Amino acid sequence: MPETRPFVYVTRRLPGDALERLAAAADVGVWPERLPPPPEAIVHHAAEADALVTMLTDRVDRALLDGCPRLRVVANVAVGYDNLDVGELTRRRIPAGNTPGVLTETTAELAFALILAASRRLLEAERAIRRGQWVTWEPEFLLGHDLAGATLGIVGFGKIGAALARRAHAFDMRVLAWTRHPKDVAGVEWVGFEDLLRRSDVVSVHCALTAETRALIDQRALELMKPTAVLVNTARGPIVDQAALAGALRRRRIFAAGLDVTEEEPIPLDDPLLSLDNCIVLPHIGSATVATRAKMAGLAADNALAALRGERLPHCVNPEVYDAGG
Ligand code: GLV
Ligand code: GLV
Repeated sequence: MPETRPFVYVTRRLPGDALERLAAAADVGVWPERLPPPPEAIVHHAAEADALVTMLTDRVDRALLDGCPRLRVVANVAVGYDNLDVGELTRRRIPAGNTPGVLTETTAELAFALILAASRRLLEAERAIRRGQWVTWEPEFLLGHDLAGATLGIVGFGKIGAALARRAHAFDMRVLAWTRHPKDVAGVEWVGFEDLLRRSDVVSVHCALTAETRALIDQRALELMKPTAVLVNTARGPIVDQAALAGALRRRRIFAAGLDVTEEEPIPLDDPLLSLDNCIVLPHIGSATVATRAKMAGLAADNALAALRGERLPHCVNPEVYDAGG
């Protein structure tokens, strides 16, 4: 009797050798299009799948899991996993994987790029040239704010927050941080959330999106920030109340913002943020380097392959599935 190979469904083509490694151990189906598969398409293609490799654009919820009853693992190609209903996965004893560690430096680099770009008005300056507004050198043309000697406030101090702190120290910035689990880190001062907002020249968001962090940066938080402050978000869009941010930027209540993530992705082209010169919006490219995206796909493949061999996921977000009975 021929051995039956497991079936892995992957919701987008992946860089690197992840698909080849999956194909060495399993039959592999891949959604071939540029846009993500609608949920019905995932259920259609993955109805018999043993493993599902997902992107942050896929919602893995009860309906999807009902439609894919054989799943033994969901491997998300992202460090964040707010697109997965982890409670529901755990209830069904399905381990879920993410890709921590490999994108830490890459994402911190993008956050720092946004800090520099927003503080020094780089994109606005570049647009000014293209609009024919560079008529001469002027003493007061496009003035921004220095980073040396300024204070960076890091909201959420995981691996990426810590990597950002190292970069800030190299730029002679003072570093404040707010997190639920402070640990001793040289050159980092732990402060309360409001204190961080009041004292920081740059506030950079690095927490996960959870019920507690949704709209954490709201109208009230923005009111506490300095009028010269810059807000950067490379974590998840809904952590910032975008309408409140647009209002604060328009009124110059804060100086500028740099966002790699937005409430809705892609951001609608008529969103007020896109009409503001003091706001930079990027299309969620925090981890987008050749090397890092290959490593993320590789870790997701490792997670899927481990589950198919009956082993623990190397990077499991719900390790409770391995506890106790059943
Ligand atoms: C990207 O946003 C990720 O969570 O990896
Ligand atoms: C990245 O790996 C992070 O957790 O912050």
